[in-house]
Amino acid sequence: MSTTTPDRFPAAPATRPGWAARSVSRRLPDFPWDKLVEYGERARAHPRGIVDLSVGTPVDPTPEVVREALAAAADSPGYPTTAGLPGTRQACVDWLSRRHGVTGLEIDAVLPVVGSKELIAGLPTFLGLGPGDLVVQPALAYPTYEVGAALAGARVVATDALTSVGPARVSVVWVNSPSNPTGRVLPVDHLRKVVAWCRERGALLVSDECYLECAWDAAPLSVLHPDVCDGDHTGLLTVHSLSKRSNLAGYRCAFVAGDRDVVAELLAVRKNLGLMMPGPQQRAMQVALDDDAHAEEQRVRYAARRSELKRSLEGAGFRVDHSEASLYLWATRGEDCWATVAWLAERGVLVAPGSFYGRAGGQHVRVAFTATDERVAEACARLA
Ligand SMILES: Cc1ncc(COP(=O)(O)O)c(C=O)c1O
Repeated sequence: MSTTTPDRFPAAPATRPGWAARSVSRRLPDFPWDKLVEYGERARAHPRGIVDLSVGTPVDPTPEVVREALAAAADSPGYPTTAGLPGTRQACVDWLSRRHGVTGLEIDAVLPVVGSKELIAGLPTFLGLGPGDLVVQPALAYPTYEVGAALAGARVVATDALTSVGPARVSVVWVNSPSNPTGRVLPVDHLRKVVAWCRERGALLVSDECYLECAWDAAPLSVLHPDVCDGDHTGLLTVHSLSKRSNLAGYRCAFVAGDRDVVAELLAVRKNLGLMMPGPQQRAMQVALDDDAHAEEQRVRYAARRSELKRSLEGAGFRVDHSEASLYLWATRGEDCWATVAWLAERGVLVAPGSFYGRAGGQHVRVAFTATDERVAEACARLA
């Protein structure tokens, strides 16, 4: 599948006045979740209430150790820096080394960001991409890669086969392993080929690794791991988020790491935009990254919910594809995804249609297992 952003999202007619004639929102894809509202209402009408497995927002408590760190840093009258506190940046480096075997990273190659979504949406703009640029994203992808390209006016090709891109000059390639929505983990050989292709073509490889610690039946690798990049981070950027690992979606704690020159450029631009992670959040992120115990506790919770839901979906006639990692089950009944969304909504269970993530998802639904134990058990009972 390929999309050409400027054609899909034409500019507003020139006859419209002032800012409206240059409307940015018209260039962006429709906000897909609006289409799910009526199914949410249907699911809410269930006598035992809705089981919302659509969005994938964490529901378990923010770890005590992180809350304490935030509270201890509450007295924060001065501006934080865009670069971030040295201790916070060091914690990013240490976590990537300790947990993910990344070598050779120093603190000037990491930068805190205000949740990874803002960085993903802004990256093409921060790096000066425009209508002459081409961004490649996975065939099934988190929608913000396309939003970011559209904001910058760049073209997007959605494909899993880089050979299908042809001779065109490519500026940015996104990979996302483990994947949202499919939970697929790219094997090391595949990642090595993507790194080699990007290096040969002069494209920046940006790897969204926000589910790196949510792995069940596979061992995902960062592209910064020496087995993938041979210890050379040139032309590579990784995006990490604490939203899922540490139940910190509300704190907006994330960071980028990789090619020192790209990080320096992002820092220079973001300084001018005033994009800085609040100081207390930086302290909280440092503590969260240094502590593995809470992340393991959360992982165990998700693993149990995942097994229960997977078993119930399969028992109800679904096939679950990929899903070896991430917080989602990529499930199908071999019918149009909206028919499955409707079938589940009748049972009070709300899921996301696969078509939100690309045409190839037309017969799948994405089932998040981020609900409480009680709601997951309720969903399983309704599927039985
Ligand atoms: C693939 C992917 N990237 C990035 C994000 C954004 O995470 P956050 O902005 O909370 O860091 C999400 C959120 O669900 C995601 O699924």
